[in-house]
Amino acid sequence: MKKHIVLLPGDGIGPEVTKAAKRVLETTAEQFGHTFTFETQDIGGAAIDHQGTPLPEDTLAACRKADGIVLGAVGGPKWEHLPGHLRPEKGLLGIRKQLGLFANLRPIKGFPSLLHASPLKREVVEGSDLLIVRELTGGLYFGEPRERRNQNTEVVDTLTYTRAEIERIVDQAFQSAQLRRRHLTSVDKANVLESSRMWREIVEEKKHDYPDVEVEHMLVDAAAMKLITNPTYFDVLVTENMFGDILSDEASVLTGSLGMLPSASIREDGLGLYEPVHGSAPDIAGQDKANPLAAILSAAMMLRYSFQMSEEADEVEAAVHAVLQDKYHTADLKVAGGIQVSGSVLANKVSEQ
Ligand code: NAI
Ligand code: MG
Repeated sequence: MKKHIVLLPGDGIGPEVTKAAKRVLETTAEQFGHTFTFETQDIGGAAIDHQGTPLPEDTLAACRKADGIVLGAVGGPKWEHLPGHLRPEKGLLGIRKQLGLFANLRPIKGFPSLLHASPLKREVVEGSDLLIVRELTGGLYFGEPRERRNQNTEVVDTLTYTRAEIERIVDQAFQSAQLRRRHLTSVDKANVLESSRMWREIVEEKKHDYPDVEVEHMLVDAAAMKLITNPTYFDVLVTENMFGDILSDEASVLTGSLGMLPSASIREDGLGLYEPVHGSAPDIAGQDKANPLAAILSAAMMLRYSFQMSEEADEVEAAVHAVLQDKYHTADLKVAGGIQVSGSVLANKVSEQ
């Protein structure tokens, strides 16, 4: 298959980890007989430096034509003094919005060789492998009005969802569950919120379209507890924007390392932006210390969710496992008896698997 991939390296360690992801994608293409073409565009601070704006038109145009997008990270101290509209993170928020990337997918997996780094007990985390599907472009974070009223004595935020917005994220979650263990937990606060009651209704309607998926409802407070007391219970969780923001950060502690967490923001037609959860890590940028695995696992998600290449994605994930099993790691992972290597060496090890 032929696929065109836009790379948005961005700032700090972004270029290092994006290069690592590209390398693994090239190896995968070779191995499976695909043709992947790459194009690099500016975003974030790098785009401000080169083109005076965090999200140049050319970048957006290239992304619209792409089959998949891999982003490194944006931001850093160099641009912190700039006014809001000129900040690097505007590039990232802008691209998600302009491309209509409404579904945020965050897989969280407890890699056996890293379980000691989790703040939770090994027996609790061991075997955990879950996916949080978060609605990304609606709800409380986007609702209008949002304002102070009555001489600053009152404040209002608005939570709105349309039926169509809920339907598309619920469809996405059922489809994601079909690619996994077919167990979907829909998380809401239906005992209090009207938006949650509509959410629950829609899940109940949609479940008839996916009879192979077992679905249940869980209140968000119960889900928050269960995530850290019994994470292996879950396969796929789906929830609205704010609940998803909080639960995905909570769940990220299961793995014990920011350098290991991939994510995707996708839309109905399969176009997606794939990026590590971590930021630009200015403290270690340019030193070849950055852990490339989150970016590599993000590229694997692109293979799975945008290109429908499950076997290829499995292969990349297995290579990451194998490298960790062999105890190779970057400085951020404290592996007892492990072999500490640079980011680029670790990426090579994954490619060679
Ligand atoms: P950060 O994720 O960049 O770094 C937090 C800590 O984790 C640092 O000590 C860093 O060295 C370490 N770290 C992160 N990724 C690593 C990796 N791959 N390998 C090894 N160590 C790693 O978060 P921080 O420091 O809060 O933010 C730094 C900049 O990144 C800020 O400008 C922030 O706005 C931006 N940022 C961008 C994001 C994005 O592009 N999606 C997300 C989060 C932050
Ligand atoms: Mg968050």
